[in-house]
Amino acid sequence: MTTLWHGRFEGGPAPELLAFSESLSFDRRLAGDDIAGSRAHVRGLVRGGILTPQEGTVVLTALDRVEVEIADGTLEFLPSDEDVHTAVERRVTALAGEPGAKMHTGRSRNDQVATAFRLFVKRELGMVAGKVLVLQEVLHARAVEAGAAYLPGYTHLQRAQPVLLAHHLLAHAWALARDVDRLLATRKRMDVSPLGAGALAGSSLPLDPAAVAEDLGFAAAFDNSLDVTSDRDFVAEGLFDIALLGIHLSRIGEEVWLWATDEFGFLRLDDAWSTGSSMMPQKKNPDIAELVRGKAGRLIGDLTGLLATLKGLPLAYNRDLQEDKEPFFDALDQISRALDALSGLLATATFVTDRMQAAADSPYSAATDLAEWLVERGMPFREAHTIVGAVVRDSLERHVPLTELVAAHPALGDDALELLEPGVSVTRRTTPGGAGPVPVAAQIEAFAARLQADKARVPHA
Ligand code: ARG
Repeated sequence: MTTLWHGRFEGGPAPELLAFSESLSFDRRLAGDDIAGSRAHVRGLVRGGILTPQEGTVVLTALDRVEVEIADGTLEFLPSDEDVHTAVERRVTALAGEPGAKMHTGRSRNDQVATAFRLFVKRELGMVAGKVLVLQEVLHARAVEAGAAYLPGYTHLQRAQPVLLAHHLLAHAWALARDVDRLLATRKRMDVSPLGAGALAGSSLPLDPAAVAEDLGFAAAFDNSLDVTSDRDFVAEGLFDIALLGIHLSRIGEEVWLWATDEFGFLRLDDAWSTGSSMMPQKKNPDIAELVRGKAGRLIGDLTGLLATLKGLPLAYNRDLQEDKEPFFDALDQISRALDALSGLLATATFVTDRMQAAADSPYSAATDLAEWLVERGMPFREAHTIVGAVVRDSLERHVPLTELVAAHPALGDDALELLEPGVSVTRRTTPGGAGPVPVAAQIEAFAARLQADKARVPHA
């Protein structure tokens, strides 16, 4: 068996070593990015006079061929192909002969793998951001459609003050806007090419990392070869961005799950986006919401696993770093499916607004309005709070309707009664960013503008 290092070794590798150390089973996903890196490297070798233009052409043609073979599944992988980089190079050499054997000049798998993985992560973080925009679009559309519908706003999961449904939906959409921001910021920070760093120290050959970086569409080349071949902070950051995004999705999932209960009854799931029970014919289950919530735990695991791998690694490359890929692939696959599923669920769910409004119309929800009404008439807020609190307590203890007690109260009276009418309270939230119709109308506009701006920032969105 021929390895990349057979010259130095008398015997071949043990099968158990290969079984344990191979990464081909998962890193073949980097094939396209590995080939892109190799193309740029070969062009650099030609510019540096290390390969003749003819040799360069032969190798580039072989790379094109390997790309096709990978796409149509005809590239044969061998047991000795430790990883995708080995497999591609072996095949290129078989196709191109001696010029193919020159492809790896001035390069190590350490800068090669870092380059391929940066290309991959950079692109896929943009893809995730694009899917977040789709979900945000759904939330925005549902907010527009919600009009004047309102529901109880909760703190401690206790009814607090009524809020517009649009306001509630957009609360999640704004959180997702920060996720988009984070993904793009990570993308920008990691936009650095490692190619030319070699195994750890650079090269004696006339390589030009800046030109290769430009060829690959990176914003810059590395500043320090030890750093760029050994740090995977860009993967950890991407995993953090995805984990936090997953946590935001999980919070949405939790509410969908709660709202779909008979007890809440605020939301009905479309058949295509819910599941039944194998035993109980009446059931309609919010499995998507639950899986989204469950996957968030897994995404946190992907992040913390990699952080633990990176901790304490001395400079520069260590084989531990091969453990960077699986958590990222996993997080990427899970988050993109979760985004698609949640977007579909939310686009098709029915909001049961009469149930929401009935729940919000309890006169107790307007207690803060009563206190603020007294404040408007000159009373210190603490005093107003105490007065309204006592009226609420009296109503609950003696089972007398709040409206009756408010009408009879010397400081409140008939004029204050209007505040307890269904739908009035929410209209009184008039401050910017608040939950009432006036600020929410402005918010819907502001969010639409933000979405447009983000679409222009996210690649291919
Ligand atoms: N598959 C390896 C990885 O993902 C490639 C680098 C191997 N480098 C080495 N010096 N053994 O990290």
